[in-house]
Amino acid sequence: MTTLKEKLEEAKSFLNKYISQPPKIGVVLGSGLGKFAQTLEDAKVIPYTEIPHFASASVEGHSGKLFLGKVGEVEVICQQGRFHYYEGYEMEKVVFPARLMAFLGVKSVILTNAAGAIHPSLVPGDLMLIQDHINFMGTNPLIGRHEEFLGPRFPDMSQAYSLRLRRLAKEVAREQKLALREGVYLALTGPSYETPAEIRMFRLWGADAVGMSTVPSVIALNQMGVEVLGISCISNMAAGIVEKPLSHSEVMEMGAKVEKDFIGLLQALIPRI
Ligand code: HPA
Repeated sequence: MTTLKEKLEEAKSFLNKYISQPPKIGVVLGSGLGKFAQTLEDAKVIPYTEIPHFASASVEGHSGKLFLGKVGEVEVICQQGRFHYYEGYEMEKVVFPARLMAFLGVKSVILTNAAGAIHPSLVPGDLMLIQDHINFMGTNPLIGRHEEFLGPRFPDMSQAYSLRLRRLAKEVAREQKLALREGVYLALTGPSYETPAEIRMFRLWGADAVGMSTVPSVIALNQMGVEVLGISCISNMAAGIVEKPLSHSEVMEMGAKVEKDFIGLLQALIPRI
C-alpha cells in the first residue's frame, strides 16, 4: 500500500517539473472566487486530473485546476476549486492539496470560501476574516494512524488563524478603504443547507458565519506548522435570518460581485506576507 508520504512525494515530483522557484504562498479559492487565479503572472495551469493522488473537483463553480504563478515577485501556488467532504471523499483526499502545499515548502496559506451570515450585522457581499472556527463536521482530518512527519499528534489550535496575517490583512484593507469584517466560522458537512433552528443554535455558540469547507485544511496546515489566513465571502444570510430560501446560484453570484475587491486585497496582501 502506498503511504501518505509516498503519495505526497509522487505529487511533489510531478509538480517539480513545472516549478522553477519553490512557491512561498498558497491560495485556495472558494465558490465564485476562482477568477483570482487568472490574474497570476507567468502562470502554469495544471488540471487536478493530471496530478497524482488528487481527486477531481466536481462542484459547479469549482473548476479543479492548480495554478503555479506569481504575484509581483512572489511565487504562488493556487488551487482553483477544492474537494469537499460532502462529495464523498475521505478526509485524506480533502486535505491532500493543503498537505502538498506544506510539503512543497509553502509557509503561509490563504484559504477562501463562500459562507452564510449568522451574525445579523454581516450582509451578503461582506468579506470576513476568519478569527477562529468551530469544527462541527463530526470528524477530523487527523483521525487515524499518526504520521510523525506531518507534525504533532495533538496540534495546538489556539491560534489556528495567524494573528500576524490577520493584522496584515486588516492593514491592507484599511489602505484600500475596503471594509473587512472579522468573525467565527462554523463548518459542517452539508450538502443540505442548515435549518433555521440550527442557525439559532450556532448563533448561541458564538458562530458568525457558516460553511461547508476550509476547516479540515486549516487543521491539517496547523499540524504541519503552516501559517493560515481565512477569508469568507458572505454570499447569503443563513437560513431563517431572512425568509428567502437558499440556493447555490446565489452563492456563485455574490462571489462574482465581490471579486474585484477580493482580487485587489489578495494582490496587495501577498507581497507583504
Ligand atoms: N450555509 C452553508 N454553507 C454555505 C452557505 C450557507 O448558508 N452559504 C455558502 N456556503
